[in-house]
Amino acid sequence: MSIRIHTFVGLILLVCMMSDQVTAQRPGINQDETKVPDFTLPEVLEFSDGGLVETAEAWQSKRRMEVFNAMADNVYGHVPKRKVSVDFKVVSSWEVLDGAAVRKLVKIVFGNDPTNFANLLVTVPKTESPVPCFLGYNFQGNHTTTNDPRVPITDSWVRDRESPPTKGNRANEAGRGASASRWPYKELVKAGYGLATIYYGDVDPDIHDEFKNGIHPLFYEAGQTKPRETEWGSIGAWAWGLSRCLDYLESDASVDGKHVAVVGHSRLGKTSLWAGASDERFWITISNNSGCGGAALSRRKFGETVAVINRVFPHWFCDRFPEFNGRENELPVDQHMLMALIAPRAVYVASATKDLWADPRGEYLSLQNANGVFALYGDPTLDVDPPAADSPVITGLRGYHSRTGKHDITLFDWQQYVKFAKRQLDK
Ligand code: GCU
Repeated sequence: MSIRIHTFVGLILLVCMMSDQVTAQRPGINQDETKVPDFTLPEVLEFSDGGLVETAEAWQSKRRMEVFNAMADNVYGHVPKRKVSVDFKVVSSWEVLDGAAVRKLVKIVFGNDPTNFANLLVTVPKTESPVPCFLGYNFQGNHTTTNDPRVPITDSWVRDRESPPTKGNRANEAGRGASASRWPYKELVKAGYGLATIYYGDVDPDIHDEFKNGIHPLFYEAGQTKPRETEWGSIGAWAWGLSRCLDYLESDASVDGKHVAVVGHSRLGKTSLWAGASDERFWITISNNSGCGGAALSRRKFGETVAVINRVFPHWFCDRFPEFNGRENELPVDQHMLMALIAPRAVYVASATKDLWADPRGEYLSLQNANGVFALYGDPTLDVDPPAADSPVITGLRGYHSRTGKHDITLFDWQQYVKFAKRQLDK
């Protein structure tokens, strides 16, 4: 009985948290700026054995790895050592957008297991030379990103929803184009960019099943049944999947593999940040409304907290992260260090004014508190105060805006990402 009640309460919590606009006050959740506790952030520019990091060389050759390992050990987990083969096959390609672009379906097979695969959908403007490209996961299947009837419906587990309706955790035709507003193919192609997307559940279904599904089991050593304490959870697995997509994009002659921007919304924004931190081949990293475990500083305990995220989504992070539930001040890291790991590559963080669950101010402050590391590369500093709503600020390597409105990724957000990308290209 008690298990049932817990499951029921858990479900209600989950539904509340997944609703588009989580602004209502919930017991135990602070959304009042005056109640943010005092805290001191861990020092990014100090070596673990003391001494200050004073040069870009010292950051890159030693401190960066210390910070990376601390984030992996305590938050996202490490990728297991075992090597797993990954094979790519372009299954089909066709013209879209009245001949302005070519779309390709690429099958990615993991670990030589034909049942363990993902479909990457790559759409590139038809041009003579390779194009810069955005790469991001989608939430419900590639077919939801466009009305294009040729995009196959995923066979993977999907979270059931009422709109568009899904049943038995399987996607269906009703979902085609349902999230097209989040994927502005036409605008991006017109601006000269490719857009590659992949369903995150193809890599690892977003359901806690003790890591028996998705790519996790491919990495187990004999006798192992789940990741070790400091090995990856689902976010780590999704981030690894993005790197495999980058492997493919680097091999595709229509894409400029040196200019691939990784982008994600919400939990997939947490993922894009970890992918950008883990894989230095990513050109730009973009986090849209990523919140707790993403861009937001954990020590602010504003909106979603470490305890809440670990309770509701026990499979996202490594097993050590829950040790810091309610003990954020004892975490050896905070999320400004994640931003720092991306330097000297470019990073853009976006918030939404009504998305208090994701702590817009905390999302800005992690970018701002990475000032020291970015300064080593000559990047101007960001002010302590975030810019006004809908007024993006760009330092050079870093960009931020808070869009008026709710938790979502909109055309306005994408327009800023395109402008930011163009600024980076024009340098
Ligand atoms: C929930 C969760 C957030 C997450 C979001 C999403 O709201 O609490 O951490 O970012 O879902 O991914 O949609």
